[in-house]
Amino acid sequence: MQYEELSADEALVNRCECINKTFEQLKVHGSFEEARKKSGAGVECGGCVPYLKLAFASGETAFAIDDPRLKEFK
Ligand code: FES
Repeated sequence: MQYEELSADEALVNRCECINKTFEQLKVHGSFEEARKKSGAGVECGGCVPYLKLAFASGETAFAIDDPRLKEFK
């Protein structure tokens, strides 16, 4: 098996994988709670929840997997 390094883009968290929607797409809902209610983002595995909360708080839509701001959004 060959090891392939991820490109910077691939290493960023920018979507809810469970519903396959980017944070950019989810921003139309205006808030984390609305996005969750209307799209189902963050409902299934919950892995994207801190990132999605950070997306609404910061306005950014892609994050390093270990962004230090995440501890505020568990
Ligand atoms: S990645 Fe968003 S709920 Fe699973």
